[in-house]
Amino acid sequence: MQVSATTQPGGSTDADTVALPIFEDERAPEAAPAEAAALLASGEARGAFKSLALAHAEGKRWLLVGLGKRERFTPERARVIAAAVRGRTRELSTVALCWQAPEDSPEIAGALVEGTMLADYRFDRHKSAPAEDPGGPPKTLERLILASSGDLSEPVSEAALVTSAVNAARDLQNRPGNDLTPSALAAYAEALAGEIEGLSVETEGREDIVGRGMGAFAAVAQGSYEEPALITLRYEGPGASGPVLGFVGKAVTFDSGGISLKPGPKMSEMKFDMSGGAAVIEAVGAIARMRLPVKLVAVIGATENLPSGRSVKPGDIVTAANGKTIEVNNTDAEGRLVLADCLCHAVGLGAERLVDLATLTGAVIVALGSTYAGMMSNDDRLSEQISAAGERTGEIVWRLPLHEEYEELIKGTYGDLDNAPEARKAGTIVGATFLSNFVGDTPWAHLDIAGSAWDLGRPYVGKGASGYGVRLLVELARSFSS
Ligand code: BES
Ligand code: MN
Ligand code: ZN
Repeated sequence: MQVSATTQPGGSTDADTVALPIFEDERAPEAAPAEAAALLASGEARGAFKSLALAHAEGKRWLLVGLGKRERFTPERARVIAAAVRGRTRELSTVALCWQAPEDSPEIAGALVEGTMLADYRFDRHKSAPAEDPGGPPKTLERLILASSGDLSEPVSEAALVTSAVNAARDLQNRPGNDLTPSALAAYAEALAGEIEGLSVETEGREDIVGRGMGAFAAVAQGSYEEPALITLRYEGPGASGPVLGFVGKAVTFDSGGISLKPGPKMSEMKFDMSGGAAVIEAVGAIARMRLPVKLVAVIGATENLPSGRSVKPGDIVTAANGKTIEVNNTDAEGRLVLADCLCHAVGLGAERLVDLATLTGAVIVALGSTYAGMMSNDDRLSEQISAAGERTGEIVWRLPLHEEYEELIKGTYGDLDNAPEARKAGTIVGATFLSNFVGDTPWAHLDIAGSAWDLGRPYVGKGASGYGVRLLVELARSFSS
């Protein structure tokens, strides 16, 4: 989708459909043709939130869009309404859509672009081409234009860039495990870095992972014939002066549970277990494309988790890169094993603020559903920055506590740590407590995105892969870049 901004009124663009915003209890905007104003006067078009009504005038369609009360209108509401408009314009076979901006706000303009592009997303590359349907609506929008009296071209093009990255992360999430293997993910990261100036990447395989003493990561990977990948991205923007940010992502391209095999129903969803890694790769790509003035290292641990004759077994004891020994009492608690070594690695590479994203526990879905990601952190300042970035992007987080009492739960019987304690208490916090053993004193936040990475169900992303975390991490990097 081509996205642009204009200071011309929507009616003078060559869009076939203009979305015309109406606030509740207010009159039609000046840009409205008489036909549209008449719809409003008749009560067919209303300002109530999500009310939609169609008029034809000046050779275009005019979609009158209710935004609710002006004082209640937020960027999140803008995303929601943009998705509703995209739904309706799909039925109308719209090819070029112009949004008449309801106000000259960069945040609202960005949110309208996000909502439209996110709702426009489809993953149908594995469907055979449908029989010719010349009258059928075009599947995706060709052009989106944002019309406003002030110049909003910068927020509009930034939102388009970042939302493209979100949709690219959704493509990665949706790709099945037999296509998106760890090496395919590494190849993707290599190609991305090749495209973007100032972004560099390094990929290491099984031998290097073992050689680095990453015994926990290697243990997860040992059951699979697929080569694992330790992917490291580096970026330093012009004039960057803040702390080195370290983003870490779990990228288990398929999680069967290993010897502690998962039950059959829904196991196929475990192709999404690389969502943290996908979000990190795409966020870093977007940050680098925008040339944000930050210093950044990102570490993505990619592997499959499969049962085989050489898989890690319950009871095995492995040694992580920082020398801590771990009893692997459940091979399905593999994410924390991969992340343990990746977090150590990021600290070793100089990360001064760490954020990891991982589909780590089913328990976070029980606790928070898909609405919030669970956040656990050893640093109040960093968690506040992440919470604020979450509020601005709609990728919201809810902080859960860490407490030294939880450390008792993960003490090993024969080794230092137990990766999956028997007592099914505080599963999400226990996962984070385990990870806290691998970050030293570095300010760190762990985002458990098992709920939010897919089936978020928010109107502008719907079911399936959400790309959760890309916009959040970009916004966080922005907050470090002044
Ligand atoms: N990838 C799963 C977490 C998950 C579960 C994500 C359901 C999305 C939906 C993770 O590797 C896992 O299996 N976690 C276990 C941990 C347990 C064995 C301590 C879990 O949550 O059951
Ligand atoms: Mn698992
Ligand atoms: Zn997993």
